[in-house]
Amino acid sequence: MPAIVVIGGHWGDEGKGKVIDLLSEQAAMVVRYSGGNNAGHTVDNHLGHFAMHLIPCGIFNPRTDCVIGNGVAFDPAFFLKELTMLGEQAGIDVSGRLFVSDRAHLIMPYHRLLEKLDEEARGANSIGTTLNGIGPVYTDKAARMGLRVGELLEPDVFRSRLRYAVDQKNLIFTRVYGADPLSADAIYDEYMEYADRIQPFITETGRLVRGALSANKVVLLEGAQGTLLDLDHGTYPYITSSTPTAGGAAVGAGIPPTQITKSLGVFKAYTTRVGAGPFPTEMADETGAFIRERGHEYGTTTGRPRRCGWFDAVSARYSVELNGLSAIALVRLDVLDVFPSVKVCTAYRMDGNVTHDFPSTVAQLERCEPVYEELPGWETPTSQTRKPSDLPPMAKNYLRRLEEVLDCPISIVGVGPAREESVCLRPLL
Ligand code: GDP
Ligand code: IMO
Ligand code: MG
Repeated sequence: MPAIVVIGGHWGDEGKGKVIDLLSEQAAMVVRYSGGNNAGHTVDNHLGHFAMHLIPCGIFNPRTDCVIGNGVAFDPAFFLKELTMLGEQAGIDVSGRLFVSDRAHLIMPYHRLLEKLDEEARGANSIGTTLNGIGPVYTDKAARMGLRVGELLEPDVFRSRLRYAVDQKNLIFTRVYGADPLSADAIYDEYMEYADRIQPFITETGRLVRGALSANKVVLLEGAQGTLLDLDHGTYPYITSSTPTAGGAAVGAGIPPTQITKSLGVFKAYTTRVGAGPFPTEMADETGAFIRERGHEYGTTTGRPRRCGWFDAVSARYSVELNGLSAIALVRLDVLDVFPSVKVCTAYRMDGNVTHDFPSTVAQLERCEPVYEELPGWETPTSQTRKPSDLPPMAKNYLRRLEEVLDCPISIVGVGPAREESVCLRPLL
């Protein structure tokens, strides 16, 4: 069976958690392949309401194995906290079905501190990161001075590599920022305690995932963040430091790209962004504020208010092309239920010209103004809808128009946060 990648189509928080929870009923395995606990994936099902940050959202299905892949930035303290929450809140038994890659890079206390100091130093130009150490951990990975999960099991190697890393970071803390140095010994003791508890989960996960695929099982690759936050293809420098797009999934899960035969892009029926950076359809007015309140648009990870705007089909089309999306899950249709009309941004006007291309620099994107197409609203509640034929005609019209503009079929429509508040237009599997 194929590996199916589920990707955030815009700037994150599209509803990936809900979609993964829904689809994992049909999957033998769910794999996180990028990012870390900067992700906040909301799941609402018969077991309760959960904000998942690191453990894959397939964990709620007792028959689904869950993997934290090599591409993930792994915070051990956070992992243990999430594990405890799952046990206490939902009585979930993860034994024998939760695995952590020995190649995943460890988030260390100096990564979080470095990020905080760097964000403060940037002042008005700060990225608005989640302050979880994500940028610094991937920087160290590329600089070949990161520590990996597998090294927790080799204390002597861990200690000597940690000492070097802490010495280097302390030079930056003390000489660049005038901050206090950290103690390598204290970090070593802390991480050795984590090692004891995490050891049963650590394995060579790439082999596991490839094994599942060879055994013809359905594997879901759970994207974090979103296409427009991608290190290469997003709105640089207002991005995250990993590769959330489809191209990153093979590397981050340890499987051949040829095994990924489908890609599902998750979008909201409108567009949001949290953190800094250009966002052409942002409505810094009462309509934007209305969507924020009606949709409870506050960050799952940081609680920050999300910036809201009409659906940006230019960036979404870019996402369809870049990820080779085979289908779309469009959630939060219900949030638009009350509008007499809804708008879709089908082009940008930049420097007096109309363009359908998503620009590659933020300077250009900042100069883009949305060109809107206005469609009639449906002014009918959709949250009870379960069959495509029961969707209000104008809601169907909106979905059809999005499919046309994006040149991609919509497979799932979300009409509420809960797992069952979904309408399947076309089967994905
Ligand atoms: P993720 O990071 O992509 O998993 O998305 P988040 O969980 O950060 O944010 C998506 C929000 O939308 C969460 O609060 C979900 O509970 C909620 N949500 C998902 N699908 C729907 C839907 O169809 N309707 C409504 N009203 N809320 C939804
Ligand atoms: P999920 O998986 C929305 C944003 C941050 C910031 C930028 C860099 O829930 O969709 P980072 O901490 O990654 O270095 O922050 O990226 N960001 C997200 N925005 N959803 C996310 O994840 C995000 N993860 C990071 O707000 O602008
Ligand atoms: Mg989120």
